[in-house]
Amino acid sequence: MLYALIHTIHIFSVVIYGGFLFVDILFLSKMKQTLDGDEVKIAREAIMMHVRKVVPYALMIAVASGIYLFTQVFGKIGPHGMSTFQEALSIKAFLGLWLGLRGTNQKLFGINPWLFKSHLFPFTLVVIIIFLSQAIYL
Ligand code: HEM
Repeated sequence: MLYALIHTIHIFSVVIYGGFLFVDILFLSKMKQTLDGDEVKIAREAIMMHVRKVVPYALMIAVASGIYLFTQVFGKIGPHGMSTFQEALSIKAFLGLWLGLRGTNQKLFGINPWLFKSHLFPFTLVVIIIFLSQAIYL
């Protein structure tokens, strides 16, 4: 029951976090095509001021709930090494933790990522993580 609840929280938080990245990459980045430089800044800020209040926390909840799920399903490593499930889950967890660390540093400590400043990098990682999240069941 608790697992199902945390799993649902995990899915909702990754939808909010990943959803914003999809919208940003697919649609908001296109504002440049119709607005000029200052208008883009104003329009983007009008959206980002609300994004900053929600999306970084959704990422933190995704990581915290992911860590809980991980402890419940990873299981013991057998004598022949990790199963495909454990391997795929480890890579997925590593990428998720990396995103979480990056986002938390930025939000709580004001440390801006010096590498990959655009949202294309987290977007790409989220796409890979979503594929891996399904690959763990293969
Ligand atoms: C932004 C980062 C993350 C994204 C986008 C993400 C995405 C997902 C998705 C799409 C699922 C599949 C849900 C389903 O099909 O029911 C999932 C499940 C899972 N995630 Fe994450 N996740 C993230 C971070 C993490 C982290 C950091 C961990 C662990 C440290 C983690 C551990 C898990 C586990 C253990 C499951 C599967 C549980 C199961 O179905 O048995 N996730 N995640």
